[in-house]
Amino acid sequence: MKTTPPGVATKLAEYRQEHLLQWWDELSGEQQESLVAQIDSVDFEMIRRVWQESKISSTAADSEVNRVDQAAAPKSVVLQPASETEEAQWEQAAEVGAQRLADGKVAVITVAGGQGSRLGFAHPKGMFPIGPISNRSLFQVFAEQILARKRRHGGDIPWLIMTSAATHSETIDFFEQHDFWGLDRETVAFFQQGSMPAVDASSGRVLMSAPDALCLSPDGHGGLVMALKSSGLLDRMASAGVEDFFYHQVDNPTVIMCDPALIGLHAQNNSQLTTCVVNKLRPTERMGVLVDISDHVEIIEYSELNEEQAAREDASGQWIFWAGNTAIHAFSLAFLEQLTSGGGQLVLHVAEKAVDHIDVTGNLIEPSELNANKFERFIFDALPLATSALIVEGNREREFNPVKNAQGNDSPLTSREALSRIGREWLSSAGHTLQETASVEISPLTALDADELVGSLKDGRITVNSLTGPPAAT
Ligand code: UD1
Repeated sequence: MKTTPPGVATKLAEYRQEHLLQWWDELSGEQQESLVAQIDSVDFEMIRRVWQESKISSTAADSEVNRVDQAAAPKSVVLQPASETEEAQWEQAAEVGAQRLADGKVAVITVAGGQGSRLGFAHPKGMFPIGPISNRSLFQVFAEQILARKRRHGGDIPWLIMTSAATHSETIDFFEQHDFWGLDRETVAFFQQGSMPAVDASSGRVLMSAPDALCLSPDGHGGLVMALKSSGLLDRMASAGVEDFFYHQVDNPTVIMCDPALIGLHAQNNSQLTTCVVNKLRPTERMGVLVDISDHVEIIEYSELNEEQAAREDASGQWIFWAGNTAIHAFSLAFLEQLTSGGGQLVLHVAEKAVDHIDVTGNLIEPSELNANKFERFIFDALPLATSALIVEGNREREFNPVKNAQGNDSPLTSREALSRIGREWLSSAGHTLQETASVEISPLTALDADELVGSLKDGRITVNSLTGPPAAT
């Protein structure tokens, strides 16, 4: 048995976290090492400061009210094309985007480190079987879209997948099992985001999940900035000639991967950070909203708005908070690089959560009420830091159909229905009208859009296999 390493006990005492060594003498050497590594990974000074600030609630609440009161609907949004001239502008942007893809200037970032607790799926969310017919997983849908884009445009498209301690090894195993769905594995990189401890909400003491383990969880998708840098991927991408990242969340199978129009608009406007927004369906929909505050574009998260605020209208009767964040972005590599200098740490948000933990006697506590604070960074806090940010309106029905909840809105049912609906629309463009209830699934390898399907169905024949592509991965 080892004695506690010099410095650890002193440091813990300084931050009133001595309880983390409570079971030290009962742990094996391996457990002791693991516990010390976890303790070393925590920035106790920062956690204490942020937690204490969050307790001065009036200040926090006041600044939130101010932000909401000052917010206006975004002035400058590239809306969906509504005239022939606008159609032509979008087409031109798409050509610019296609050229950037052909030149290998774009890489994909998929954020897949979340624990997906709302969906109630016990694996990384990307493994969720979403194909309405084939049950192909979210990861397979994305892999095939990337493969199809490479074939169409000709350039390399590196795919960077951010995982967390909770999702890392299972995600890699899943890709291995499916042989990366035909992608060259050298072009796919997995990198892990950091972790943050959960603390007891009333004392600020770090909670433990076992005698040798702290309650740790992913540090939020804002952990991306530092994780990209520390993994070396930011430098690797720069050396490979990548200039922009197409960023999306793992939960949306209808994302238009590497959307040439979005990438083109981002490039034409010299944007550092471009965001695709869609009209919220109702004021209380759980989407962040893009707003102007002073001279900046910012996101106000759904949790920051109460019902009255969310439904506020401007003088023209339009919702102020209409521009829902799809979490589809384009980032310039130079901007991410700039964020990493000077620490690259985006602001830490403190959330109240119910967190299972062990008490001082080692008993497992499964609280039914909020007992803990967790700390997360959000990638969209980079928005006000951008000197050139662009907002582009997407086509909601086509490109935003996420899987978030087990049932109801944004569930597997609604997302599969959307995939079928989109398939039926494309088939209808190709002259095949199906019943409104027909399940349809079109492999991205068969077609990335309606025009491509029309081209590939020239002989007019359809078979289920030609649409769904290779056998499903389950
Ligand atoms: C998110 C956005 C919201 C947006 C909506 C669109 C936040 C706080 N809000 O809400 O503005 O309108 O999506 O669908 O994100 N993730 C990580 N690591 C983490 C946490 C999350 O990689 O530590 C990933 C998840 O795997 C997922 C994505 O980030 O791909 C979104 O996370 P989630 O917590 O589900 O966001 P929402 O609350 O749905």
